[in-house]
Amino acid sequence: MKKNQELFPFFDRVIPQHEKEKLLKQKAKVIWFTGLSGSGKTTTAVELEKKLHKNGYLCKILDGDNVRVGINNNLGFSKGERLENIRRIAEISLLFVRCGVISINAFVSPSEEMRELAQKIIGKEYFIEIFVDTPIEICEERDIKGLYKKARLGEIKNFTGISAPFETPKSANLVLKTENRTVTETVDEVFDFVLPFVEF
Ligand code: ADX
Repeated sequence: MKKNQELFPFFDRVIPQHEKEKLLKQKAKVIWFTGLSGSGKTTTAVELEKKLHKNGYLCKILDGDNVRVGINNNLGFSKGERLENIRRIAEISLLFVRCGVISINAFVSPSEEMRELAQKIIGKEYFIEIFVDTPIEICEERDIKGLYKKARLGEIKNFTGISAPFETPKSANLVLKTENRTVTETVDEVFDFVLPFVEF
């Protein structure tokens, strides 16, 4: 298949990614958090952005809850719609990468197929997968949004971990445990892990 560059020669005339990375003094990456609802993806993403920002890195957070009220507001939670959700997010993340920006993504992305699709679209060299490994019992106990309760009552269909599967990631770059740890501890771990990848 022809590459975008071959199909659309104007790509030759745009300022390339490495020039933008040079301007920003950073390497663009997609830091992709996967895990159950309530596992701590968003909290970690938000605090990680703050820490990277403080250290001079420009990031953009993409999160299941905000993307689904905007660009993906026509998608539900069937397998096919979830795949389309991830496909669009991966394409959006790639646009940020091309602009030299670090994309911090927090999506349940429950299947290997979805995560593989994201990696394929974004490119292996730019994709850092972090599995936020919080046991379902803890997520359910936290139940920050009250969704587990609703899912147990059958009010939400295809709820990940209850009535829809979550496949344990096999090839995550980092497995982040959150149980009995403070946010500062877990964010410090992620920050130390990703820093060598984003340093210019
Ligand atoms: S994904 O599975 O397609 O990757 P995404 O991360 O975009 O999911 O959205 C997950 C968020 O949507 C959850 O954190 C939760 O707030 C909400 N949600 C609503 N219905 C469901 C459901 N059936 N399964 C999982 N999350 C749901």
